Amino acid sequence: MRQRRHLAIAAAVALTTAGAVATLSTPSQAASAGCAVTYQVTNQWPGGFGANLAVTNLGDPVTAWRLEFDFPVDGQSVTQLWNGVATQSGRHVTVTNAGWNGQLGTNATATPGFNGAWTTANPVPTAFTLNGVTCNGGAPSPTPSPTTSPTPGPTQTPTPTPTPTPTPTGPVPGHVDNAFAGATGYVNPDWRARALAEPGGGRVANTATGVWLDRIAAIAGTPTAMGLRAHLDAALTQDAANGAAPLTIEFVIYNLPNRDCSALASNGELLISQDGLRRYQVEYIDPIAAIMAEPQYRNLRIVTVVEIDSLPNLVTNTNVPACAEAQSSGAYVQGVRYALNKLHAIGNVYTYVDAGHHGWLGWDSNFGPAASLFASTVAGTTAGFASVDGFITNTANYSALTEPHFTINTTVNGTSVRQSHWVDWNYYVDEQTYATAFRAKLVSLGFAPTLGMLIDTSRNGWGGANRPAGPSASTVVDTFVNDSRTDRRIHAGNWCNQSGAGLGERPRANPAPGIDAYVWIKPPGESDGASRAIPNDEGKGFDRMCDPTYTGNERNGHSMSGALPDAPLAGAWFSAQFQQLMANAYPALP
Ligand code: GLC
Repeated sequence: MRQRRHLAIAAAVALTTAGAVATLSTPSQAASAGCAVTYQVTNQWPGGFGANLAVTNLGDPVTAWRLEFDFPVDGQSVTQLWNGVATQSGRHVTVTNAGWNGQLGTNATATPGFNGAWTTANPVPTAFTLNGVTCNGGAPSPTPSPTTSPTPGPTQTPTPTPTPTPTPTGPVPGHVDNAFAGATGYVNPDWRARALAEPGGGRVANTATGVWLDRIAAIAGTPTAMGLRAHLDAALTQDAANGAAPLTIEFVIYNLPNRDCSALASNGELLISQDGLRRYQVEYIDPIAAIMAEPQYRNLRIVTVVEIDSLPNLVTNTNVPACAEAQSSGAYVQGVRYALNKLHAIGNVYTYVDAGHHGWLGWDSNFGPAASLFASTVAGTTAGFASVDGFITNTANYSALTEPHFTINTTVNGTSVRQSHWVDWNYYVDEQTYATAFRAKLVSLGFAPTLGMLIDTSRNGWGGANRPAGPSASTVVDTFVNDSRTDRRIHAGNWCNQSGAGLGERPRANPAPGIDAYVWIKPPGESDGASRAIPNDEGKGFDRMCDPTYTGNERNGHSMSGALPDAPLAGAWFSAQFQQLMANAYPALP
């Protein structure tokens, strides 16, 4: 998993946001026709706005679609639309599919988005039809009232407007705001044993790490890996031994069809073209939810990290066929919604959705569209925005938590660090500023102000002998940045078994405002991918980003991969990497 560079995409939305969401749907009892539409204003400024639509087909599969709606007031118009073709007559708007997204299976979602104009007010449309069939019969999911018109700002400054937040479910009993606060973290006995078997591993072996449910067989367990129930039972034992403190246990939900669609190292067992979405729901999510809901586990705080890399891939990588299929079929969005619906329904289960990392989504052309996609995806769940507790960044990646020697605002001899080859016009230089900004963006789109972020700090420590002690004295921006940055990767798009990386901050709760916790989701010592092709029955491919001799592609600026040699398959124990991570830990190990 983990690739990541921005590919420019059409929808550049750089302004602050006014989240206005309307969700209208018909129940799916209409077998042959029916639809659900989410219309979300993602940002708004005097005279203009951006909006995303999510059009879900609840009826029989179609090969072409036509969405129609009326703007409520004169002066509202579509100026530029993507993922479809728009025409407008008066207030009436017709959006037909683009050439590549006409196929819409049952429960599949098309996601047109547009930039628009308005004059007196910009209320959201309240009725939609899909291929002539109305989409507005009593929704099973929350139906927020159409928003009032936002207040135009006095100047050209974008003006955030109040956001109607659909919060249909009240607080779940026993469900706390931050599961990590005051809690002890579950130590995975499988991982602990591997760490203890390494010289010096005892220094970190009692650290909480994520348990990856990375295939259907992981639920029951294998001869070398405990299953879900075995972990939960072990968590009960650890909870009983830790005094009055509650216990968090972290599971990674990671088995969508067409998994890791833009890379090869962590491809999975399910394919969209082979009934993968249904199998994901029935053979994977349902049994996981059933076990987690068993009453003996009700006092555990079960944290789930939902589908790493999935939604971000829909933002930047639909040029890759497996990702295009994930988008056009709706499988990623539907799969994530299904997982959230099942998991959020369990009061002591906490959900965190993947939000990539700064080196992937930190450009405006990716940041706004990603946030909008996350919002429309979650808004379409049964509980709406309430079905997520937060988002996680940097999972299994290496982006530095904080760059101590420069910020995004630093200039070198009058030149912004944004112009350096390393930063490459990104708006963030590290994960904490990115996660903090992403949180604010999501709240502006309608997520609850209690939304919390997690940052995976398992391997972003960047200590050791090569860590710069202070800012460079160079007046040349590239030299300054390269000599000042603690992230020693060759390129910020490199993601596989990175040479020089160290263990990062140890897991802890409430490390910074808006950050629920630093967590170790990727278990240190587990490979990101094999450095050469290794036959296997898990679906995992050979990604050359894991090959130390690879000279790169457009996603990493045609740089060397920076990967360690002799790596085993993704997920397998990689002793040399574990030793390096301990040696370069930051903060250093005792
Ligand atoms: C990779 C592997 C997966 C493993 C995980 C954690 O994503 O594909 O099998 O569980 O890393 O190490």
